[in-house]
Amino acid sequence: MAPMAVALILGWWLVAVSRAQQLPQLSLSLHPSQGVSLGDNVTLRCHLPQPAAWVRLYRYQNPTYIEQKDNVQNMAEFSLTSIKQEAAVIYQCQYQGLAPAGTSQKSDPMELLVTDHSYPPPGISLSPKEHVEMGSNITIQCWNKDYGASFLLNKAGHSAPIQHQEPDDEGTATFTLFGVTPADSGTYRCSYRIGGCCLLFSPLGDNVTLEVIPRPAPPGVNGRPSRNLVAAVSGGCAVAIVIIIILTVSFLLVARRRRMQRHERPGATSRSPEAVQFQVSPGDSEGLTYAQLQAVTHSTHPPASSTTPEPPIIYAEVGTRGPR
Ligand SMILES: *[C@@H]1O[C@H](CO)[C@@H](O)[C@H](O)[C@H]1NC(C)=O
Ligand SMILES: *[C@@H]1O[C@H](CO)[C@@H](O)[C@H](O)[C@H]1NC(C)=O
Ligand SMILES: *[C@@H]1O[C@H](CO)[C@@H](O)[C@H](O)[C@H]1NC(C)=O
Repeated sequence: MAPMAVALILGWWLVAVSRAQQLPQLSLSLHPSQGVSLGDNVTLRCHLPQPAAWVRLYRYQNPTYIEQKDNVQNMAEFSLTSIKQEAAVIYQCQYQGLAPAGTSQKSDPMELLVTDHSYPPPGISLSPKEHVEMGSNITIQCWNKDYGASFLLNKAGHSAPIQHQEPDDEGTATFTLFGVTPADSGTYRCSYRIGGCCLLFSPLGDNVTLEVIPRPAPPGVNGRPSRNLVAAVSGGCAVAIVIIIILTVSFLLVARRRRMQRHERPGATSRSPEAVQFQVSPGDSEGLTYAQLQAVTHSTHPPASSTTPEPPIIYAEVGTRGPR
């Protein structure tokens, strides 16, 4: 089955290519481009890249053309008046070039979607709610028990439906928007395709409005915010450490200057008990501690500058342990 289909498609493609003879493509547009209902007039315009001997309008995959216009400069207009449901099909056009001569390929297919207001619009609901945070999953359900063949989800501002979905046995189609972003905010409406021939659709139903609330990504979601947090914390720590260092250094400088001023006072001793080494013998059974202290003094000034030598002053703190 599959090889046969491939062979058919390949054959059709080869025929189409050999017939095309490399003429530039033409394009087809529809006016109005949307919101066409049964009974309306629409215009199909075939835009030519060069003058043509004739332009023909076709129904998709139908070998016989609907209508032909001769000697066309750059655009051929085909009017469909008071359209019926049979007009709701796919169209293409084709032209016969003058120079270079030859028959063009058919244009890209264009769908004429027609609304039949004799059908009821579908119902619609949105869950969990209309205002949601970014990243939430949203479902929009559309239903019509009697007629729905295939449902279309339309978003305001988009010319074409954004999703289509088959209904379940109850005639309900469920559209899911995963991980919504603020770009998903907007107004949504549904319609359904009417079974049978043609591109006939129900009118659009009521609207639902979705508003996605942007929120800052929580720390650690993509690594960046946590890095920022770490940077902020370590930055704060660095500032604190620098302040502590500055305070310590200035405190030391002030203390040193005070000490030097004391030393420079007249009559002040040049010796100070700056370092004391002592040995402590283990305490005896009565909890007394004996210490033998030996004073070592350092002098910053030459001994000659001292007028009245003073004996070194020894400060000692003696602790006693209570009896065991
Ligand atoms: C469609 O066109 C016909 C003739 O050109 C005109 O009489 C009719 O009013 C038009 N219908 C609409 C809905 O514009
Ligand atoms: C959204 O749906 C997907 C797929 O079912 C699931 O993995 C994810 O956890 C859902 N997210 C939320 C926020 O419910
Ligand atoms: C949505 O529907 C309400 C009433 O059903 C209407 O007032 C509102 O204008 C509609 N919004 C849009 C954007 O169509």
